[in-house]
Amino acid sequence: MFTATSLSGDRPQQYRQLADQARALLHGEHDRIANAANLSSLVYHALPRLNWVGFYFFDGTELVVGPFQGQPACVRIPLDRGVCGAAARTRQAQRVEDVNAFPGHIACDPVSRSELVLPLVRGDALLGVFDLDSPDPARFDVIDQEGLDAIARIYIESLT
Ligand code: SME
Repeated sequence: MFTATSLSGDRPQQYRQLADQARALLHGEHDRIANAANLSSLVYHALPRLNWVGFYFFDGTELVVGPFQGQPACVRIPLDRGVCGAAARTRQAQRVEDVNAFPGHIACDPVSRSELVLPLVRGDALLGVFDLDSPDPARFDVIDQEGLDAIARIYIESLT
């Protein structure tokens, strides 16, 4: 059985520990749903001040919600809408300090105040996005972005 231990040290150290836990959790499993579900749970419970952590998968046309932790979410997001659509369309991370100031932001959970979305790209293929919401403004900084991007890459590598 996998047991997550609490994170310690400074924030970069904590993200390295979280990455180790993610690798251990996904070890030997390649299923995209199973690994997205377990990673959502791991991250949601490991990090403070989050109200939504999860995955949207690209179906060839738009983003469709996948495994997550948090309140029920919008099911389909076109690539020209929202923070998730922007991350998918540009294939660039979107770190939004105030979601209410982001044009086209989609308020799935009105509690959300800031958001970090990491694109999931393998080779030339867009797989989807990894999305985190916080009830606090400006919850995510560059340390969070780098740490969570490493988690997103562990997810992509787990699929092959
Ligand atoms: N706020 C996102 C939608 C997804 S939810 O946050 C879970 C967006 O604007 O794309």
